[in-house]
Amino acid sequence: MRRSVITGTGSHLPEKVMTNDDLAKIVDTSDEWIRTRTGIRRRHVAAEGETTSDLATRAAERALSAAGRTPADIDTVLVATTTPDYTFPATACVVQDKLGVPAGAMAFDLQAVCSGFIYGLSVADSLIRAGQAERVLLIGAETLTRLLDWTDRSTCVLFGDGAGAVVLEAAEGTGAVSDRGVLHTVARAEGRHRELLFTDGGPSTTGTVGKLRMQGREVFRHAVNRIAEAMREVMDAAGVAAEDIDLFVPHQANVRILEATAKKLGIAPEKVMLTIEEQGNTSAASIPLALDAAVRRGRARQGDLLLLEAMGGGFTWGASLLRL
Ligand code: ACO
Repeated sequence: MRRSVITGTGSHLPEKVMTNDDLAKIVDTSDEWIRTRTGIRRRHVAAEGETTSDLATRAAERALSAAGRTPADIDTVLVATTTPDYTFPATACVVQDKLGVPAGAMAFDLQAVCSGFIYGLSVADSLIRAGQAERVLLIGAETLTRLLDWTDRSTCVLFGDGAGAVVLEAAEGTGAVSDRGVLHTVARAEGRHRELLFTDGGPSTTGTVGKLRMQGREVFRHAVNRIAEAMREVMDAAGVAAEDIDLFVPHQANVRILEATAKKLGIAPEKVMLTIEEQGNTSAASIPLALDAAVRRGRARQGDLLLLEAMGGGFTWGASLLRL
């Protein structure tokens, strides 16, 4: 059975850091409120002129180097993002050019907001298992701060910029849960809730990019239930229990959501990978950023069973179970 194995991870964060105290100078908020409600202390913000493709390219270079691969080895570049450089062409085409991935590779963007990396894993794994791709560069990259209304304290304190990448390669497995690679992924959506989390603009409505709008309390309520459902679904499909999971690598939206979800599923707190404190919510970039941090800090090793999940605008949500 063909499997999609992660052979390298990489990430990149912009240099500029914005603390909660910095935010308290521009909106009526406090470090105490932000920390206790979200777990966030600081976030990285892209500099003027620094684009999503710049962050994506740096993360991809690190993932390629970790995998021992060169751009010429890649046949598919997939960028999950809500903040593309342009309406078109796809950011993936810009990254292909900046990296030097040869002509003829497939390159496209995927838009599923904060669930983009889980959706991307589902698509990349399907391409590999169908024999359409051998080596995929899957990147989650965002300059989400560009969508923020800096006068709206209920949203501008939550988000940050960054990029994470993985190299996924085809390998032969036995079909058992002991195989390395993506074991099971679910990606779901419910568009009727789209107005709870959206941008109030777009190319075919206002002709502008728009600003992020969110009814946080409502999103929170849906998030815990949907995420837990998706996690249970992938665990049941693969026949694994909470105690079999070596590391839980969730989308970093709010530390309270992550802790509530882990508790609901019976995953021990020390098995939860948290980067939200230093990075905020980086949307599609947050899972590969957390995964790369886990690998580089030795918290995730080859052979470990990882559970990933995300929920975002749309609503979209999903989960993935994989063995590193
Ligand atoms: N500083 C101080 N006070 C604030 C701030 C702030 N930054 N933001 C809101 N408040 C106030 C509100 O005005 C409100 O005051 P009031 O009671 O006088 O009206 C009070 O704090 C409580 O507001 P709530 O919105 O009810 O606060 P809550 O405890 O729900 O926390 C939060 C808000 C952090 C946004 C939370 O609801 C949340 O995390 N929601 C989920 C967000 C999420 O997960 N998004 C994921 C997907 S993101 C994506 O897909 C792009």
